[in-house]
Amino acid sequence: MHFTEYWAIVERDHAFQNPTTPEKLMRLADYCQVRDGARVLDVGSGKGWLLRHWAKEWRIQGTGLEINPWFVEEARSRAAAEGVAERLTFIEGPALTFEPEPAGCDIVTCIGASFALGTTEEALDWMRRAVKPEGVLALGEVFLHRAPLPPDVLEYAGDDVPTSRDLAETVAAIEARGLELTGFTAASVDDWDGYESLHWRAAREWARENPDHPGRDVVLERVRRGREGYFRWERECLGWGIFVARIA
Ligand SMILES: C[S@@+](CC[C@H](N)C(=O)[O-])C[C@H]1O[C@@H](n2cnc3c(N)ncnc32)[C@H](O)[C@@H]1O
Repeated sequence: MHFTEYWAIVERDHAFQNPTTPEKLMRLADYCQVRDGARVLDVGSGKGWLLRHWAKEWRIQGTGLEINPWFVEEARSRAAAEGVAERLTFIEGPALTFEPEPAGCDIVTCIGASFALGTTEEALDWMRRAVKPEGVLALGEVFLHRAPLPPDVLEYAGDDVPTSRDLAETVAAIEARGLELTGFTAASVDDWDGYESLHWRAAREWARENPDHPGRDVVLERVRRGREGYFRWERECLGWGIFVARIA
């Protein structure tokens, strides 16, 4: 099964695909000082929740970059139903094939998709090049509650560990790219639980609706392993936050 189909199945019930809340995403708008006329670029835009909701509040001009055709389709149809489609463009494909106009955006966001641009550092550099000198960028990223991870977790998680940085080290990495942190909001454990729970329920329901699908066992096993890892170490050790920064 192609990875895009897997994610379309397990995230079919997610309104947005990150472990925060609508309130925190609207607080992010405040941190970013979203306003009428702002040009916003969202990398890994998923179902377009952020751009769609900001476009409903302000007359922004938004572009979303998204590799998954299932999510692009949903973003476009929801934007049309919400009356904001003419101000939002969703481009299907790998983000790195898109050439942003240098210093062309007021706001550049990448919420849970830095890997689409390479390492965290490469993502920050890419976003920094795309943002105006007085603009703002927002990166949603994982971090460790405490680094290094205990040996038993490292042994269990192996290559699945998505970062080796704690929160302070993540902020230091941002500042080392010539950026100044001006806002932060983190997922609570409860937020994470909500994000993960939707995966488990969606997979179960989808498997019941599709008993003969050739990818059924793959989906169920992957979700089972993900849930095991979540309770073995991620829930305790992994944090997720949105870092808002401006050029220093
Ligand atoms: C964790 S989700 C976050 C989605 C959205 N930002 C949100 O918060 O709702 C990561 C998104 O990045 C997309 N993605 C993964 N690799 C990508 C790439 N190379 N180029 C563009 N998008 C990519 C995924 O399909 C997925 O929609």
